Amino acid sequence: EQLIREVEIIPLEVVVRNVAAGSLATRIGVDEGTPLPRSIVEFYYKSDKLGDPMVSEEHITAFGWANPQELDDIMSLALRINDFLSGLFLGVGIRLVDFKCEFGRLWENETMRIVLAEISPDCSRLWDIETQNKLDKDRFRRDMGGLVEAYQEVARRLGIMNENEPPRPTGPVLVASSDAPK
Ligand code: TMP
Repeated sequence: EQLIREVEIIPLEVVVRNVAAGSLATRIGVDEGTPLPRSIVEFYYKSDKLGDPMVSEEHITAFGWANPQELDDIMSLALRINDFLSGLFLGVGIRLVDFKCEFGRLWENETMRIVLAEISPDCSRLWDIETQNKLDKDRFRRDMGGLVEAYQEVARRLGIMNENEPPRPTGPVLVASSDAPK
């Protein structure tokens, strides 16, 4: 379940990396799996037409996609999310290699704060700590097979997979509005 608030989306894909993989490994020519000296935050400008190009903080503030204070908030939130999720996954034997998230402006009367607007296991790299097995969407992207089993393994370890109840083919069921939290 997710409680959703409408936000003004900031047109950035924010990637946090703990281990070199994917486009970073290719870009700087290191082996996938090389640990990074510290977590790295990268920004990509959200534009399908341009193929989401990587941009710097200078581009972001110069073109007004976010101001310096908003960018500070985005970076510190992204790193807090990384710390939280890294710990959560470490506890079940999974390394959070990297993930992508997005942020938005949430207006409450005259005040605005930056909030997390999108995050998903589909936008994360998750490797088994012991075997380095990929338990994420790279299995699909790289045609490795075993995608559903890998996702189920993550869900099982997190204790959110009900073994007796197959996933609902119709997706989530809308909660009747009289039952919805006020
Ligand atoms: P990358 O190594 O391909 O740049 O991806 C880094 C992480 O961000 C990886 O977990 C996949 C995720 N990601 C998306 O989900 N969508 C995107 O558009 C991008 C650029 C990355």
